[in-house]
Amino acid sequence: MITPQTIEQIKSRIDIIDIISDYVKLKKRGSNYLGLCPFHNEKTPSFTVSPSKELYKCFGCGKSGNAITFLMDHDKLSYVESLKWLAARYNIEIEETETSPEQKILAQTADSLYIINNYAKDFFENTLWNNDEGKEIALSYLKERGFRDETIKKFQLGYNPTEKNLLTQSLITHQFNKELLLKTGLTVVRNNDELVDNYRGRIIFPIHHNTGKIIGFGARIIGKNDKAPKYINTPENEIYVKSKILYGLYFARSPIDKAKECLLVEGYTDVISLHQAGIENVVASGGTSLTTEQIRLIKKYTNNLTIIYDGDNAGVKAALRGLDMALEEGLNVKLVLIPDNEDPDSYVNKVGTTAFKDFVANNKKDFIIFQLGILLKDAGNDINQKNNVVNNIAETLSKINRTEDFTKLQEYIKQCASLLKIDEGGLTTLVNKYKRDSIAKEEKKLYSVGDFQTQEFPQQPTTNYTDSDTLLLHQDEAIEKNILKVLFEHGYKSWNNEQSIALYVINELSPYKFHNPLLAKIYAAFIQELNEGKQPDAKTFLYHTDEAIRNMIISITASPYELSPKWDEKLQGLNITNRDNSIQDAFMSVTFFKLRKIKKMFEENQQQLEIATTPEQQLQLMKDHLLFKEEESKITKALGTVILK
Ligand code: GTP
Ligand code: MN
Repeated sequence: MITPQTIEQIKSRIDIIDIISDYVKLKKRGSNYLGLCPFHNEKTPSFTVSPSKELYKCFGCGKSGNAITFLMDHDKLSYVESLKWLAARYNIEIEETETSPEQKILAQTADSLYIINNYAKDFFENTLWNNDEGKEIALSYLKERGFRDETIKKFQLGYNPTEKNLLTQSLITHQFNKELLLKTGLTVVRNNDELVDNYRGRIIFPIHHNTGKIIGFGARIIGKNDKAPKYINTPENEIYVKSKILYGLYFARSPIDKAKECLLVEGYTDVISLHQAGIENVVASGGTSLTTEQIRLIKKYTNNLTIIYDGDNAGVKAALRGLDMALEEGLNVKLVLIPDNEDPDSYVNKVGTTAFKDFVANNKKDFIIFQLGILLKDAGNDINQKNNVVNNIAETLSKINRTEDFTKLQEYIKQCASLLKIDEGGLTTLVNKYKRDSIAKEEKKLYSVGDFQTQEFPQQPTTNYTDSDTLLLHQDEAIEKNILKVLFEHGYKSWNNEQSIALYVINELSPYKFHNPLLAKIYAAFIQELNEGKQPDAKTFLYHTDEAIRNMIISITASPYELSPKWDEKLQGLNITNRDNSIQDAFMSVTFFKLRKIKKMFEENQQQLEIATTPEQQLQLMKDHLLFKEEESKITKALGTVILK
């Protein structure tokens, strides 16, 4: 476990804007920041981040949390991994008490893989620049292809010598564990027990994580060789997950942001050559169809994806497979085909930056229309096949049928119907059918999951419920959350000349107990901190080691007061509405709390009366009953009328 001191240190350094900005483009709006929610598809931003509360909340999908839950949710890190990520980011050394052996091994494995990769990267670079074989074979090859020194250095390209185990030997001398070496793919076993270099005689392309760390490598054979694969890549391991990798993203992040467009190419060399030509908003998929994870990755930066592929059909067809997913994610996809058997790398080297840019700008094809063209060509005159094409394209179009994209969809239907030589109305009907089908499928999935419960963070309270006071009085949790919200938000403002709101609340509540154990725990901790002379607030508990407490704090802070809309009317009568909101909130929360507790005491009293056997017992219970009645009438008098039953 990470020690409380370390957690404290991390907490004090967390800057939620800085962290979330890594993933979401945020714009300042008043005291908050606003951006497109990374957790659901949206076109108008509803994801807000509050630096003062250290919280985010999406008003579209309801997700909310703090910097840690963000990392947990977004990057699927564990609580501890998130803390470690933050510690690394802020250069905080982690002190640990105890960790489970498995956790330790997992974290150590990832750490070691990074260390080995980094060592290897240095080794490869050094070989490329300083070793005779490296210089004569590899460096000269790269230069011949037109890569300049600074480009080669920027991408940290390297070379693995042809000798069988120079790297492996060096790694072993440095005490790196054999199992780990095999995991990195840098070393392989030959003839049962001999460890040799896997990338012998190959140019090395390090693949960077967004933090700049090396997660793996691509290794290219020099020149042409039909017997061996042109590229070898790192095998899947703890840090190299192919489906989540876009080569070059580490360098392209801010250029994509600026260009408001992401160019997607197939290969490493395409990325590097375009960068060298000053076109830096470019990433590579590695020649396979795009995965949902890769599409989501792109969507964090832009909605505009331009795929630039060789004109040859294999790659294009692979890319087409990612299309429906990209549409579902709301991406705007365009396609540019490079002519004459060139690829982006060779083409930009041939025609130069300006001509390349012009070509891309002037040859962007709409992806859907392009797909239709290919399908139609393949179908020829076969009626059945043409029928399939119609269904195919209708299904594709159904994926963009979002309210915001209505005009776009209309336009597509028109164009496609015309190309297919079919009736527009018919195509619309078909598109709608596919849309209905997919909605039905989604719903089925949603309800079969089983955990489709009330949202953790309620939306704004509905104002049209009829007996709202009674309703609220049945919810211990909501009422108790109100109390904590008041303490967190207004605790240190003054209630009157004598005491703070926190003291007012605590005094008023002293005869009562919290019903919800978690809230009781937080309330007790609050009082304890206060007694120690501190000024606790939500942030004090926001990064608590207990996940349940963290989530509760987020829920308290992110949700509005659960107070009856009728309160306003009642408070008019009391003439305190025009004063500070904090006093009103405190008063309402305390009053609701008390009424709830008294109502419960009435009920218990009633039950006990029914089973009471001795007259003494009965008498005592009757006295209690009167006491509660008196207490209740004091409160209700103060309020006017309140419905209790
Ligand atoms: P150059 O031929 O050096 O210009 O490389 P390239 O990047 O243009 O390669 P190409 O267009 O042939 O392939 C595109 C991408 O597909 C490469 O960058 C690799 O990521 C991947 N790739 C190509 N060949 C292989 C292979 O033999 N094995 C594997 N695993 N991937 C390959
Ligand atoms: Mn190429």
